[in-house]
Amino acid sequence: MKKLIFVTPVLLAMLALQGCFYDVEEELYPDSGNTSCDTSNVRYSVEVSQVFNARCNSCHSGVNASGNIRLDNYQDIKQYIDNTGGRLMSSILQDGNASPMPQGQPKIADCEISQIQIWINNNYPEN
Ligand code: HEC
Repeated sequence: MKKLIFVTPVLLAMLALQGCFYDVEEELYPDSGNTSCDTSNVRYSVEVSQVFNARCNSCHSGVNASGNIRLDNYQDIKQYIDNTGGRLMSSILQDGNASPMPQGQPKIADCEISQIQIWINNNYPEN
């Protein structure tokens, strides 16, 4: 009986910790299980700007933006797509027709690529 009283809290602690590990895994790999990819309603102000901010704007923002390409505001993004056709998508898809982006890193997540692609296919509205 004495042993059981000792063991029970240890078991509970282990269960609680296991819960934490699952949480962390979901944060690190948001695509695992593919539950978090929502492409049903892609908006510039939410999904698209979030991808650019998270993946690109450490280099592509402000007056010293890499390659003189700013991805931190709608007007500059629209202008870049208008003027260069498929270059933005080519860089994201890393298909060999433009410098692969993000520079020095593997492709961004499939979900993020889909969100950008859908938004561009919809004529990249400022929504
Ligand atoms: C670590 C810095 C860095 C990150 C992060 C980065 N870029 Fe770039 N990007 C550059 C540099 C530097 C250039 C200019 C040199 C070149 O074309 O390779 C460039 C060029 C480009 C070009 C022009 C390519 C061409 O061939 O004309 C596009 C389009 C682009 N980036 C888009 C993106 C997108 C979209 C992301 C995010 C998914 C991104 N970049 C993330 C540094 C970066």
